Amino acid sequence: MVDLLLGLQWGDEGKGKIVDVLTKNYDIIARFQGGPNAGHTLIFDGNKHVLHTIPSGIFHDKAVNIVGNGVVIDPVIFQKEIDNLSAYGIDFSKKLLISRKAHLILPTHRLLDAASETSKGKAKIGSTLKGIGPTYMDKTGRNGLRVGDLELDDWKDKFNALTEKHIKMLDFFDVDIQFDLDELTSEFFDAISSLKKLTFIDSEQYLFDAMKNGKTILAEGAQGSLLDIDFGTYPFVTSSNTTAAGACTGLGVAPNKIGEVFGIFKAYTTRVGSGPFPTELFDEDGATLAEVGHEFGATTGRPRRCGWLDLVALKYAVQVNGVTQLMMMKGDVLSGFKQIKVCTSYTYKGEKIDYFPFNIEPENIQVNYETLDGWDDDLTKMDDQQQLPQNLIKYIEFLEANLEVPIKIVSVGPDRKQTIFR
Ligand code: GDP
Ligand code: IMO
Ligand code: MG
Repeated sequence: MVDLLLGLQWGDEGKGKIVDVLTKNYDIIARFQGGPNAGHTLIFDGNKHVLHTIPSGIFHDKAVNIVGNGVVIDPVIFQKEIDNLSAYGIDFSKKLLISRKAHLILPTHRLLDAASETSKGKAKIGSTLKGIGPTYMDKTGRNGLRVGDLELDDWKDKFNALTEKHIKMLDFFDVDIQFDLDELTSEFFDAISSLKKLTFIDSEQYLFDAMKNGKTILAEGAQGSLLDIDFGTYPFVTSSNTTAAGACTGLGVAPNKIGEVFGIFKAYTTRVGSGPFPTELFDEDGATLAEVGHEFGATTGRPRRCGWLDLVALKYAVQVNGVTQLMMMKGDVLSGFKQIKVCTSYTYKGEKIDYFPFNIEPENIQVNYETLDGWDDDLTKMDDQQQLPQNLIKYIEFLEANLEVPIKIVSVGPDRKQTIFR
């Protein structure tokens, strides 16, 4: 069986931390979608690491980490990530396996991303500009370059043809994007030489065999359900299926081989980039969440927009993914609020609804809140559920009653150890 760990909001829920916490229970950790737009933060032994493409199980001795077919890889960023881990003496050729079917992000994909965003002006998506959209477009357009192509003699011809096409496409956007193609190409080729030292596999076959042999597998999602290409707040989304179904297509796992679905959410809500955000706060409370929660993007450093928890959106994500267990992150950040609000319904075009509608633009949506009493206790030193303040327990039980799924982990700080099991 394969268990899934999925972000239920707009990303940055704390997936990296929890995958790291759970890895001791698994033989294999596998990423199934997204690419270096992700930034997964792990903190342990006083060190902080941000991973973009490498799965978050990489620091454990035992686990094998797989970059699945659904992932898009930028060899240049990938190389930097590996270099950053040099102090750990990790044997990457054994512990980090790459699917031959994963697609490669070319330098010109990044340029196209930038050109597309610039041309959109105010309507821009707020992309991380890592070339994610253009790479997935080439994948579905059947033009992409895959990791397995690197084992063939003619891969440079494919690369050159695709690059040439992209350069022509750049003209279409009619925006000024500066670049030195020779420099970008040589950097890319160097990174490809390093990538080729890693082990390429037919990852779906590897996983079939692993399952047959009773190995335990955890699939690590990137982004969050509200950024899903189908179910997110389109067009302000990423270009992959971030939801449970994405793990099936992104790894070759059949639906009936999925075990637990861990859904992870912050005790409040954040979003980075553009797009609607019904519970967004523009007041002092929003500023407090941003400050106490250190809400800056792990990949781009951009400030994250903050707001109260949105149970309408969260319930939608629970349903789309079939979540079996919830994990609530950053509970510690809510300490000190006298009162905490939770959105329990929307008023949509004048009518009260409790489902996530087609259009959540501010002109269509008003949010209805319930207010719960806060707590003052510092949670960050707590390590047992008995220590949690009464009002936090009431908050958790209120969410469980609404979401109809148990909250099994309460995270009370960024460190691996600041994790309470219920
Ligand atoms: P991911 O993309 O889902 O892996 O999440 P990010 O790493 O982008 O963002 C989560 C941020 O919150 C990181 O800076 C984590 O170190 C931090 N974090 C995770 N869990 C907690 C928590 O329970 N409390 C606090 N205060 N910070 C946390
Ligand atoms: P992790 O895995 C938060 C957002 C971007 C932008 C939109 C499209 O760390 O949770 P893209 O680069 O995919 O074209 O950007 O999606 N976005 C994320 N927001 N966390 C992420 O990943 C994100 N990856 C993309 O900010 O709004
Ligand atoms: Mg992140």
